[in-house]
Amino acid sequence: MKLLKDNYQRSIDYLRVSITDRCNLRCIYCMPSGGLIPIEHKEILTYEEIIRVISISSKIGVRKIRITGGEPLVRRNVVYLIESIKNIDGIEDLSLTTNGILLSRYAEELKHAGLDRVNVSLDTLNPERYRMITRGGDLDFVLKGIEAIERVGLNPIKINMVPIRGINSDEIKDFAKLTLKSPYQVRFIEYMPFGSEEMWSTEKFISTEEIKSIVESIDTLYPVKMKKSGPARYFRLENGLGVIGFISPISNHFCDECNRLRLTADGKLRPCLFSETEVDLKPALRGGASDDEIKRLLKLSIEIKPEGHNIDPEKLALMIKNREFCRRPMSRIGG
Ligand code: GTP
Ligand code: 5AD
Ligand code: SF4
Repeated sequence: MKLLKDNYQRSIDYLRVSITDRCNLRCIYCMPSGGLIPIEHKEILTYEEIIRVISISSKIGVRKIRITGGEPLVRRNVVYLIESIKNIDGIEDLSLTTNGILLSRYAEELKHAGLDRVNVSLDTLNPERYRMITRGGDLDFVLKGIEAIERVGLNPIKINMVPIRGINSDEIKDFAKLTLKSPYQVRFIEYMPFGSEEMWSTEKFISTEEIKSIVESIDTLYPVKMKKSGPARYFRLENGLGVIGFISPISNHFCDECNRLRLTADGKLRPCLFSETEVDLKPALRGGASDDEIKRLLKLSIEIKPEGHNIDPEKLALMIKNREFCRRPMSRIGG
C-alpha cells in the first residue's frame, strides 16, 4: 500500500498511543510538584475505541505503534490491548515505553502477547537519586524489570536518559559505559520544555553537543548506521556491545524526518509534540461516526501536521514564563 504523505512529503507510518495519563511515579521533569488531577475515567478512550482507531490507521499506512502513558503498565488489562493490536493486519512493529517499575511483573505476558520491544526511561543509577528524581520510586524494581525483558527476549532494549544539569549530568559517562557490557541502546534525550516554569530552565538544559563531548571523554565514538533509527543518531564505543544514541529535539530539529502522529489518552490526535493543535476523535468515536469519518479525521491531522517547531533555546525561558509553550505536561502526551 502507498504510504500517506503529509504536506511536506513526509510519510506518516508511526502512531504513538498514550493509554493513560496516570503514573506510578512523579518525575520532576514530567509532572509538577503538586501532582496532576487525573483525567476522569470516562474521558479516557476505552480499549475498544483505541483498537478501532489503530485498525483504521493501519488502513492508511500506519505500520508502527508505540504504547505510552503516563505509565502504560498501570492501566488494567494492558496485555489484552497488546494482544489485540498484534492481531491487526498491517502493524509490523509494536512497542511500549515504560518507566520499568512494573516490568518484571509483566515482561513474560507482554512477550507472549506479541509485544516486539520495550523502551525504558531511566535517568540515574543511584537509588537515592532515583527516589529524588521520580519523587519516591524504587530503582531496584526498574533494574529487575530490565533483567526480566532481557530474560524473555524483548529486544532490542532501549534505555532513555534525560540529562539535566545539576541533577544527573554527572552520570552521563556511567550510562554510556553500560553499552560496554550490555547490548543496550542507551539514548540521551535533550531535556524538553514541558509543563511549568518550575520544571524547566535554560540552565538545566544540556545540548547533545555537550553530552556527546562528555561521552567522548571516555573514548572515541564511532558512528553506527541503524535501520529505522527515528530521531536518534547512533554511535558505538570501541568494543561496545551496545550503542549510544542522541536525540536532539531542541538543538537539531529532526522535524523534516518526522513520521509520527500521537493519540492522547483522552482521544486527541496531536500532529506535533510541540504544537497545541489537536484533532478531537472522541466525539466522532462516541457519536456513531463511520470508519470513513474516522479515517477523514486521521487524514486531517496528517494534513495539518506543521512543518516543524521553531524552538530557540535562547528564547525558551521567556516563552515558558509567559505560558506560551507546551502547556500539556509530558505525562499527558506520552513523549
Ligand atoms: P524508537 O522507535 O524505539 O526509536 O522509539 P522513539 O524514540 O520514538 O520512542 P521513545 O518513546 O523511546 O522516545 C524517546 C524520546 O524521544 C522521548 O523523550 C520522546 O519524547 C522523544 N521523541 C520521540 N518522538 C519525538 C518527536 O517526534 N519530536 C520530539 N521533539 N521528540 C520526540
Ligand atoms: N524532556 C525530555 N524527555 C522527557 N521525557 C519525559 N519528559 C521529558 C522532558 N521534559 C521522556 C521520558 C521518556 C520519554 C517517553 O519521554 O524520559 O523516556
Ligand atoms: Fe511517569 Fe514517565 Fe512522567 Fe516519570 S516521565 S512521571 S515515569 S510518565
